[in-house]
Amino acid sequence: MAVPALEVRYVSKVYEGKVPHRALDNVAFDAEDGEFTGVMGPSGSGKTSLLNLIAAIDEPTSGEIRIAGTALHSLGSHEAALLRRRTLGFVFQHFHLLDTLTVEENIAVPLTLEGISPGRIGARVREVLERLGIADIAERRIDAISGGQMQRTAIARAIVHRPALILADEPTGNLDSRTSGEVMRLLEAVNREDRANLLMVTHDALAASFCHRVLFIKDGRLCNEIVRGSHRQTFYQRILDMQSLLGGERRDLPTTRG
Ligand SMILES: Nc1ncnc2c1ncn2[C@@H]1O[C@H](COP(=O)(O)OP(=O)(O)O)[C@@H](O)[C@H]1O
Ligand SMILES: [Mg+2]
Repeated sequence: MAVPALEVRYVSKVYEGKVPHRALDNVAFDAEDGEFTGVMGPSGSGKTSLLNLIAAIDEPTSGEIRIAGTALHSLGSHEAALLRRRTLGFVFQHFHLLDTLTVEENIAVPLTLEGISPGRIGARVREVLERLGIADIAERRIDAISGGQMQRTAIARAIVHRPALILADEPTGNLDSRTSGEVMRLLEAVNREDRANLLMVTHDALAASFCHRVLFIKDGRLCNEIVRGSHRQTFYQRILDMQSLLGGERRDLPTTRG
């Protein structure tokens, strides 16, 4: 049997402090190969904490996470950095692009870090530019393009090195609804065509309706899961219903962490 792309085994995260805070409590799920999983939950429910653990940016207090069979706790900090660079791709709400570089330079970053030859980098970057429909802005600087173009560039950068798992934290959080729809269709295509695994945190029910299934967390616990059937519209409605049941689905303020 194939190794799951992602295994989250009974993971808890306690932030120590004057008053220790249990941000995640015994969270367990797997993502099978090629799956597009959504994670939803009220503000403060632990979504970003979960992504940080999966990204090996932070360590669980207990429990275990495996990515393509590799246990994250077995990695030293250098190996964890390599895993982030080679095996993972990231898409963020605030894009995290380098403003003074051009679109194509930003996309090339993950390949440049790997020491791949300029010729091969150029060919691969062009391929991704075409695919995301941004070839015409390849030479523009990030500070001269729109939000939708920035998120396309960020997605291009996240897939250019063919990662096994793409992590997205509120990828449509700063986009209008039309641009959100375009970005979600691109992520859906990447998932389908590359069989790339995607794990996406979102507040946006419409964005979540592009997933195969959505996990809901509340107060650090997985509390529900909805699987998409054949109708996206029905799935969307069920996501909305679950959101209002759980309450507190307001957007994080843009100034809050992660
Ligand atoms: N580094 C940290 N130190 C202490 N508490 C934290 C830290 N990061 C997050 N928290 C707390 O953990 C809880 C979950 O936060 P977070 O994972 O950011 O939730 P979400 O992304 O769902 O809004 C919140 O109560 C938050 O205040
Ligand atoms: Mg968050």
